[in-house]
Amino acid sequence: MSNNTKPWSGRFNATTDLFVEAFTASIAWDQRLYKHDIQGSIAHTTMLAKQGVLTIEERDTIIFGLERIQQNIDQGIFPWSETLEDVHMSIEAALIRDIGDVGKKLHTGRSRNDQVATDIRLYLREEITSIQYEIRCLRLAILELAEQEADTIMPGFTHMQVAQPITFGYHLMAWQEMLARDASRFNDCVHRMNVSPLGSAALAGTSYPIDREYTAQLLGFTQPSANGLDAVSDRDFAIEFIAAASILMMHLSRYSEEIINWCSSQLRFVELADSFCTGSSIMPQKKNPDVPELVRGKSARVFGHLFAMLTLMKSQPLAYNRDNQEDKEPIFDTVFTVKTCLHVFTMMIPTIQPNRESMRNATLRGHATATDLADYLVRKGIAFRDAHEMVGKTVAYAITQGCDLAELKLTDLQQFAPNIEDDVLPLLTPEGSVAARDHIGGTAPAQVRSAIQQARQQLD
Ligand code: ARG
Repeated sequence: MSNNTKPWSGRFNATTDLFVEAFTASIAWDQRLYKHDIQGSIAHTTMLAKQGVLTIEERDTIIFGLERIQQNIDQGIFPWSETLEDVHMSIEAALIRDIGDVGKKLHTGRSRNDQVATDIRLYLREEITSIQYEIRCLRLAILELAEQEADTIMPGFTHMQVAQPITFGYHLMAWQEMLARDASRFNDCVHRMNVSPLGSAALAGTSYPIDREYTAQLLGFTQPSANGLDAVSDRDFAIEFIAAASILMMHLSRYSEEIINWCSSQLRFVELADSFCTGSSIMPQKKNPDVPELVRGKSARVFGHLFAMLTLMKSQPLAYNRDNQEDKEPIFDTVFTVKTCLHVFTMMIPTIQPNRESMRNATLRGHATATDLADYLVRKGIAFRDAHEMVGKTVAYAITQGCDLAELKLTDLQQFAPNIEDDVLPLLTPEGSVAARDHIGGTAPAQVRSAIQQARQQLD
C-alpha cells in the first residue's frame, strides 16, 4: 500500500519499505485492544461534542460508525491489515471508509500516544478484575480443602527437615494468606493505574478547549493524569502489574513444588486425580504431576516479562518512544498465563486426595514434639535454655534407640529431666502438640477453623 493511504503520509515522498512496514506493525497483537480503543474513542468524541469542537450530528455519526466497527470485529469480519500498522490506525481508517469525511474529525485533539496509554490502562483494569475473580475462586477451593483437613496431622518443615507437627488445613491456610496479599497487590496496582491520559495528546496537551475530567469520568477513571509527558511515556503501571503477577506466580510455583513433593513415592502425602496427571511414553508405571510442574515452569516466563518491561523502560527519555510498542506481548502473555494458571489450580485443588496416614507417620519421624517437651519443662520451673539442653540430650538418646522422642517411655524421659510426670505423654503426640498452639495464627484445629471463617467473611 502506498503512503498516501496512511494517516501520517502528508510529509512523505516515498512509500514505506514493505519489510519496514511489517517490522513496525503491531497489529498482530494489539488488535486485542479494539474494544478499549473504541471505548476511548467514543468517550473522546462525546467530550469533543460537549465542548462544541464537534457538532452533535458529527458525534452521533462517529459513534454509530465506531459501534458498527466493533460489531464487525466481534464477528470476526473486520479486515485487519499490516499496512495500517496498529489497532488505532486500522479502526480510524475503517471509520473514514465507512462514514466518510466526518470520520477524519475523530482524531481532533488526540494522538496515538495518549490513545495507546489509555487503551492499555482500560485493558489492564478489566483483566485485573478477571484475575481477581480467578484468585477468589482459588481461595475458595483452598478454604474448602482446608476445612476438610483442619485436623489432619502433617509435619511442618524448616530446612526441609521435620520441624513441628502442624495440620494440613494450617498449611493450606498459609497458601490462602499469600493469595489474599496477591489480590490486594492487584488492587493497589489498579488504584495507581486508573487515571486518564486522554488529552495529553502527543505529549504537551492540545490547543482545543477539552474537558479532561469529563473524559476521565466517562471512562471510569478517577481523574485525568497530571502531566502529559509522563502520561504518554511511562509504563510503570504495566510493570507494576507484571510485578504483582510475578509475585503471584512465585507463590503458585511454591505451591506447585510442594504438591510435586507430596506426590513423590518418598512422601506420598497426597494423590492427584488421574485427570490432572500424565504418563510416560516409556515407563508404564509413571503418573506424573505435570500440571503443577507446568505452573512452576510458567512462572519463568512471567518473571521474564517483568525483566523485559523494566529493560524496555530503563533509560528511556521522555516522552513517547516507539520502544513502548514492545510492551504488548509481555502484558498480554502475562494476563493469559496468570489467568490460566489460576484456573487450572482451582480445578486441581479439589482433586487432591490426602493420604492422612502417611502424613501422620512422617510426623513421627524427626522428634517433632521436642519443643513441646522443652515447653513442658519450662512450665515445671526450668529455664528455657536448660530445658532445651535436657531435651537435646533426650533426642540424642532416642536416636541411639532408633525411635522417635514421642516413643520413649516415661522412665527414659525421667533420666534426663527428673520432674517429668506422666501428664507429659499426651503433649508429645502430634495431636497434643498442635492443640497446644491455640492462639491467633497458631496451628490448633480450632484456630485453623476460625481463620477459615474469617477468610470466608472477607471473600463474601
Ligand atoms: N502502536 C503504537 C504503540 O503501541 C501506538 C503509538 C504510536 N505512536 C507513535 N507516535 N508512533 O506504542
